[in-house]
Amino acid sequence: MKTGSRLRALECRACCTQADSTRVTGTCPTCGHALFAVYDTSRLDGSSWWSGLSDRPTTLWRYRELLPVQESANITTLGEGGTPILDLGEVPNAPGLRVMAKDDGVIPTGSFKARGMAVAVSRARELGLRELFVPSAGNAGTALAAYSARAGLTARVYLPERTPEPMKRAVRSYGAEVVEVPGTIREAGETARIREKGRGSFDMSTLREPYRVEGKKTMGFEIVEQTGTEGLPDAILYPTGGGTGLVGMAKAFRELRTLGLLDRIPRLYAVQPEGCAPVVRALVDGAPKVTPWPNPRTIAPGLLVPAPFSSERILEAIRETRGGGVTVSDREILQAMRDLATRHGVSASPEAAAPYAALPKLLQNGALRPGERVLVYLTGTGLTFSLEDLERSLSP
Ligand SMILES: Cc1ncc(COP(=O)(O)O)c(C=O)c1O
Ligand SMILES: [Zn+2]
Repeated sequence: MKTGSRLRALECRACCTQADSTRVTGTCPTCGHALFAVYDTSRLDGSSWWSGLSDRPTTLWRYRELLPVQESANITTLGEGGTPILDLGEVPNAPGLRVMAKDDGVIPTGSFKARGMAVAVSRARELGLRELFVPSAGNAGTALAAYSARAGLTARVYLPERTPEPMKRAVRSYGAEVVEVPGTIREAGETARIREKGRGSFDMSTLREPYRVEGKKTMGFEIVEQTGTEGLPDAILYPTGGGTGLVGMAKAFRELRTLGLLDRIPRLYAVQPEGCAPVVRALVDGAPKVTPWPNPRTIAPGLLVPAPFSSERILEAIRETRGGGVTVSDREILQAMRDLATRHGVSASPEAAAPYAALPKLLQNGALRPGERVLVYLTGTGLTFSLEDLERSLSP
């Protein structure tokens, strides 16, 4: 059965090259930047599509017309999407803000990375790929391993050597091969691309493959659907590593706007750790792209991304929504993990806790104003982390 997907082509936002979406493609054949799916929505009636969604299952596949998979048989799902938005009310160190949290810690494999991998693995299967690999800080690798197992595909995951053991175990538990690499995800990516050359495998790295961002786009769709345009957050705070989440949400808002479903767009804020904040620095400097961060360090593995790929798109997502960026210390991240758990009953990974830690800072510097509705995106569960181990790993 057809999904009704309106996928039309792939397009590079850097040089406007269009590529055939029916063929296996990674990056732009002309300039090497990220490619994005474009949809033909000329015959899609926005408001009836949107109102008809309420009759569909709650997974992210409810948005199938704006996702790339063509045949329902290729949909590889573990029930991802439809995560709750929790009302946190007013939080003590950021008085006046109306805070809500979208909790992707409850998604299969424990992080929002499931969204991207569910869509990308489904599409990889549809295009006939058999072997996939990814450099990962842990969560993307776990998600790739799980969805590949479900699709009957082979997965290899390149992890920085210092990745927490529970992450390595999780990846292996789904039958994927783990390759450990010294350094950060940057070195893991470089090693992966050298080792995989000529093996007939496909690179599932963030933004080097066009469809993970389509899955992440559903974060934006869900926020709009769940809050309604009336209750839409004024700002969304997002823990930024590779930046695909921000790029995906900005794309979601753009598409909803084209369909006439959105007239106000939430401002997107990148939250990064003080020890690795290349995106925030580029924003402060007004730079067109990110320059690599020297000696990156943080307790949040997913935010240890010193040189994100196609960073122009991350900066574009933030600038076009009139958002911004802010840094938080590892100590503040740890405190936010504790506060989220003990005040609100929510388990957050170090990455996921970073936006909560950023609330008082953005209020103090005037980026957020009292009375505004602010959504902190909880990207992953903290249940696989030990607070004591994280505390010990903090530099004195
Ligand atoms: C829990 C968590 N949050 C956030 C991120 C960063 O995501 P993005 O690549 O969308 O910036 C990661 C990446 O590994 C992660 O695992
Ligand atoms: Zn290009």
